[in-house]
Amino acid sequence: MLDELNQKEGLRRALLNFRRVVVLTGAGISAESGVPTFREKGGLWGKYNPEELATARAFQKNPQLVWEWYQWRRGLISEMKPNPGHYAIAEMERLFDDFSLITQNVDGLHRAAGSKIVLEMHGNIMRNKCFDCGKVFDGINLKDKEPPRCDGCGGLYRPDVVWFGEMLPSDVLYAAFQSTQSCELFFSIGTSALVHPAASLPIEAMHSGAYVIEINPQPTVISHSVDHTFLGPSGEILPQIVDFIKANR
Ligand code: OAD
Repeated sequence: MLDELNQKEGLRRALLNFRRVVVLTGAGISAESGVPTFREKGGLWGKYNPEELATARAFQKNPQLVWEWYQWRRGLISEMKPNPGHYAIAEMERLFDDFSLITQNVDGLHRAAGSKIVLEMHGNIMRNKCFDCGKVFDGINLKDKEPPRCDGCGGLYRPDVVWFGEMLPSDVLYAAFQSTQSCELFFSIGTSALVHPAASLPIEAMHSGAYVIEINPQPTVISHSVDHTFLGPSGEILPQIVDFIKANR
């Protein structure tokens, strides 16, 4: 790993000289915390059908089933702690002058690790919003056995996450593309890079001329196009990258 950092001049220069930096994370960043990913062997979408659990139609058809599945995931996530990858990214926020963190994850572990500004493209599982009027409610009760009702309009609460077929929050999407188009260095970490629009961000970064680094134990659809891939777990690679920057700047 350190050999890679020392031997590849472009990589070394990007890490040590560039100041405008964007990090995009996916489920893989939280894998070492114990949060299940989606598309790997044993992942959530191998065991459960997203059409029955992660669409507005599914909630209309069977709100109880969808609620119970999200309450189960909330229970799991509430036990999880950030791992060294999350902490290294929080440190990167302090190391780079202009830094944006964009995540597809809904688990809140980046903030738990100390990241101050997090663009959550797919919402946050630890919040509810009213299915009917859209009013957002911070805080959840893991003991709620069925979806509570909105105190405003009486509609049912649902988790404040983006389901298949739904629009992403437009302000988050705008900020994510803005920072990506103007960055010098872009990291794609722990994502299969298959779900758009998040998957468009590394491509956008390449088109804008940024140096693109991927961190993933497995090659992905973008591995052949990026400038450098670290093949390994983010919880091991990221702390080494941060140490390298601190030692060589
Ligand atoms: P995926 O499950 O599609 O991909 C997870 C990626 O993490 C894979 O490429 C793994 O190889 C990689 N990975 C596993 N362990 C890792 C580790 N220790 N370090 C680094 N990488 C590791 O998850 P996402 O790409 O996040 O959307 O999926 C994108 C979206 O699809 C999710 O946000 C979710 C899902 O449907 C919504 O729920 C809206």
